[in-house]
Amino acid sequence: MFKPERFIEETVSKLRKEIKGKAIIAFSGGVDSTVAAALTNKAIGDRLTAVHVDTGYMRKNESREVKDLMDEMGLNYRFIDAKEEYYKALEKIEDPEEKRRIIGEKFIRIFERIAEEEKVEYLIQGTIAPDWIESGDQLRDTIKSHHNVGGLPEYMKLKLVEPLRDLYKDEVRKIARILKLPVAERQPFPGPGLAIRVIGAATREKTEIVREACAIVEEEIDRAVKNNEMTYPWQYFAVLLPIRTVGVHGDKRAYGYTIAIRAVESIDAMTCNYSHIPHNVLDRISTRITNELGDRVNRIVYDITNKPPGTVEWE
Ligand code: XMP
Repeated sequence: MFKPERFIEETVSKLRKEIKGKAIIAFSGGVDSTVAAALTNKAIGDRLTAVHVDTGYMRKNESREVKDLMDEMGLNYRFIDAKEEYYKALEKIEDPEEKRRIIGEKFIRIFERIAEEEKVEYLIQGTIAPDWIESGDQLRDTIKSHHNVGGLPEYMKLKLVEPLRDLYKDEVRKIARILKLPVAERQPFPGPGLAIRVIGAATREKTEIVREACAIVEEEIDRAVKNNEMTYPWQYFAVLLPIRTVGVHGDKRAYGYTIAIRAVESIDAMTCNYSHIPHNVLDRISTRITNELGDRVNRIVYDITNKPPGTVEWE
């Protein structure tokens, strides 16, 4: 039986012994990196630097909330606003793998620069068991190349420390609850962020649309769960399709984009079934998106694909 209190105590004391110099962690505000940062911070305090990069592809208010969380946790951190740089690099890139490559590469460059400035020797990662079990058989990477800092160049010679390596997601969530971290129940969010939820070129304009649509999906599902209309799906979000269709807005012809709603049930994200969201909840989502995004979006569709053959994200 997993005993979270004992795990916390033992891990903190192990980290204290193992980490002799300064360490760095990429802090996304997700459950894994937040728990890994909290444990390491308990062990070595200010010798840990957390790095958050606002790529411009974070969800609504997310980077601000991550900053508040790092303050609340008393972390020593660097907050990098790289929005302009990312939008510029990606404005004409349509291929999903090319998008992932550019996003990952830029992230590594920023991270490298800070590691050098801070003179760190250790890299902390929130890797959990399914991450390395899955990459062991190469299944995920052949489908799409997941972005995380695992791709840091060899020459950096950072010593890798992975305090959550033997844990499963539900165990990490238990630790987050004990440490009173407000991220314990968060749904997974991909490293490349909203850039892979805009199909084709993730321009600033399209990203703003999908950011708003994702926020509406989250708000309406939160509300429906609180009203006992449904339980939380494993993941739920919006995708912007590059397809424009004819509609009517007010009494004028509109020619706007299409938003797809995606919600899935899963245990480990390796396979999943689409969620059967009640129609009245879908109805509220559809009405709000088309009202609040004006004539930019005039069609909403619901993705009813399981994985396989679909993946969770569309790119
Ligand atoms: P797919 O789309 O491969 O997604 O069925 C499975 C799970 O992984 C998330 N995902 C990512 N997570 N970096 C991440 O850290 C990525 O590049 C990435 N791509 C997909 C996805 O949201 C789902 O939870």
